[in-house]
Amino acid sequence: MIILGIETSCDETSVALVENGSKVIDQMISSQIKLHSRYLGVVPELASRAHLESINWMLEQILKSVPRGKKIKAIAVTNEPGLVGSLLVGHVTAECLSYAMDLPLIEVNHLEGHVFSPFLEKKFPRFPFLSLVVSGGHTDLVLVKGIGRFNVIGRTRDDACGEAYDKVAKLLGLGYPGGPVIDKMYPNGDPDKYALPRTVMQGSLDFSFSGLKTAVLYKFRELEGKNKKGVTKKMICDLAASFQKSAVGVLVKKTLKAAEENNLKTIALGGGVSANSLLRRELKRHAAEKKLNICLPGRNYCMDNAAMIASVGYYKYKFYSKKKKKFSVYAKKGVSSSAGIKNW
Ligand code: KG4
Ligand code: ZN
Repeated sequence: MIILGIETSCDETSVALVENGSKVIDQMISSQIKLHSRYLGVVPELASRAHLESINWMLEQILKSVPRGKKIKAIAVTNEPGLVGSLLVGHVTAECLSYAMDLPLIEVNHLEGHVFSPFLEKKFPRFPFLSLVVSGGHTDLVLVKGIGRFNVIGRTRDDACGEAYDKVAKLLGLGYPGGPVIDKMYPNGDPDKYALPRTVMQGSLDFSFSGLKTAVLYKFRELEGKNKKGVTKKMICDLAASFQKSAVGVLVKKTLKAAEENNLKTIALGGGVSANSLLRRELKRHAAEKKLNICLPGRNYCMDNAAMIASVGYYKYKFYSKKKKKFSVYAKKGVSSSAGIKNW
């Protein structure tokens, strides 16, 4: 069963064809990083306009990849959360296409997409499992009990981890987006050079990254004050590495704690920060020590992408059609609510 996925929630326009929830026939991603980098962050109005410019030709292109003799069964589109204008471009496009092609329209929560991203081109694990979703807008520990059945058991109380990466990079003059730059610099820095806080919050699985971000700011100011010649590249490199070590340390510690407390044997990772080399390495290392199963997304499925949306679309299609429950079928019945995702 082939599902066409459409994702436009933030600064990546993406379309994909996915077969049976896992096999990616084709995927296209048009990144807007260049467009937003001069502002050191995403400008919503520019983002929605850029989606509008890309979406039609990308769809024309991807539809050529439908294998001969096969047909698209349904269209899956991100409906929340995200930038309103950007979401609207994807949703309206999907609605039109669903009407024109007479195909069901399935609305997918973007975070659900990140939860399912590690299983693209790989085996789906048994429920229940733990998912750590770390992106530019979220840092959530999610107990996944089934299709559309989630319990968020921990979340950030202030900045998301990716957001902290972006703000720290901005502060250190490293450009946007901060995550990939700091990650790349890590091997050249000394992660133990500066002692930065790790906010643990006893008795809770919640995160907090704003203290760490502020500690980087104070350390940077202190270095500026102490050094007449200014802060050197080496100092910046060490400070960025120390930040990454603290941030990843907290993510790994809380994730392992959540798995242990809930007796979960499988940990899945998703969201833009899941591309982080240190996070992947550390989670793998600890999981091996504790004999836990770890599922990491392939490099093409860490950032926002439509394959993960199509994948969730497939599972929802199967699940809700088996239960004869109603889900968004635009073509014949009009757009209904997206069953199963409201409890995120
Ligand atoms: O999931 P995503 O593409 O968009 C949202 O849904 O927010 O995540 C984007 C975030 C940005 O904050 C970016 O700095 C971060 O993911 N990111 C990384 C890495 N690659 C992207 N953070 C740390 N290390 C990376 N390698
Ligand atoms: Zn995302």
